[in-house]
Amino acid sequence: MLAIHSAIGGFSDRWIAYCEKQDIPYKKVNCYDTNIVQKLHDCDALMWHHNHALPQDVLIAKQLLFSLEQAGKVVFPDFNTAWYFDDKLGQKYFFEAFELPAAKTHVFYSKKDAKDWLKTATYPMVFKLRRGAGSRNVRLVKNKNQARAIIKKSFGQGFRQYDAWGGIKENWRKLKLSKARPIDLIKAIAHLWVPITLEKAIGRERGYVYFQEFIPDNDFDIRVIVINKKAFAIKRSVRKNDFRASGSGFIQYEKHHFDDSIILTSFEIAKKIKTQCIAFDYVVKGKEHLILEVSYGFSKYGYDDCPGYWDEKLKWHEGPFNPYGWMVEDVISKITERKNNM
Ligand SMILES: Nc1ncnc2c1ncn2[C@@H]1O[C@H](COP(=O)(O)OP(=O)(O)O)[C@@H](O)[C@H]1O
Ligand SMILES: [Mg+2]
Repeated sequence: MLAIHSAIGGFSDRWIAYCEKQDIPYKKVNCYDTNIVQKLHDCDALMWHHNHALPQDVLIAKQLLFSLEQAGKVVFPDFNTAWYFDDKLGQKYFFEAFELPAAKTHVFYSKKDAKDWLKTATYPMVFKLRRGAGSRNVRLVKNKNQARAIIKKSFGQGFRQYDAWGGIKENWRKLKLSKARPIDLIKAIAHLWVPITLEKAIGRERGYVYFQEFIPDNDFDIRVIVINKKAFAIKRSVRKNDFRASGSGFIQYEKHHFDDSIILTSFEIAKKIKTQCIAFDYVVKGKEHLILEVSYGFSKYGYDDCPGYWDEKLKWHEGPFNPYGWMVEDVISKITERKNNM
């Protein structure tokens, strides 16, 4: 029996639809219930698509999942899949420890160390906050004065989780493209004063500063997702007069955009780090693909138009596919593996 935390907008409705179709026994659970562990006694696994923007999830999802995993239950996402989720600080060390091809990242925990390093910095470079998606907390730093101001703020008042001016700009851009409603723009303006719920729960980002080498001449990024030995990909173009692709909404799906080498690299890394599900964001530097960030969660609608997927032998399978079913199958095979080993 699978337990599924059912939530609006995430993977859970697709997991449930797959279980219904395949006659896989499941029950819906509420992971915020204080008796959740007790309620899972009759279940072999828990699946929870926790969300980086929901304060409750940020507060407790990883801790609940990892506790259950340590105690012997199968979970999705497990530790290898989720510990670095929405944590670009953690990912710096993760990429370095595994010697993954990634953009060079410099992180400092004091004003002095950051300022000392600035003496050797080259511009432009990229400033990021630890959390955030859709390019929200990613900025270009054009010169030393901008870098100094960022350092001052990082070790002073800190940064809001929600960049209100960036939000207004983004909603105005989307409104012009008919991808946002006027009310979205009004809400974004209100967030100049009204904090988003995540900010109320976890406060501001401060006490560190993150700079990354800027990889020039990329008018797109490539996202490859690997789940249960299968991969699919999208190419996202940058916004007009901007270097940031994530969240732009300009997506290309055709197979010819993706070299075999980027798919192969993604398979190799996914295997090495033993993840259940991983999305790699890559940009190109010379002949190399460099990872910018990784994440287990993604917005499902952006991938429904993928025309096919690759298997581990890089064979292309044309036609519709169900990555959410792959997640369920992966969990079921882990349950079977565990039962066989008992
Ligand atoms: N170091 C970099 N060099 C060039 N472009 C970058 C760099 N870092 C980020 N970008 C661009 O900004 C976008 C957002 O960055 P990313 O680190 O993936 O953050 P997010 O979590 O918001 O997706 C990327 O899709 C890419 O287009
Ligand atoms: Mg990204």
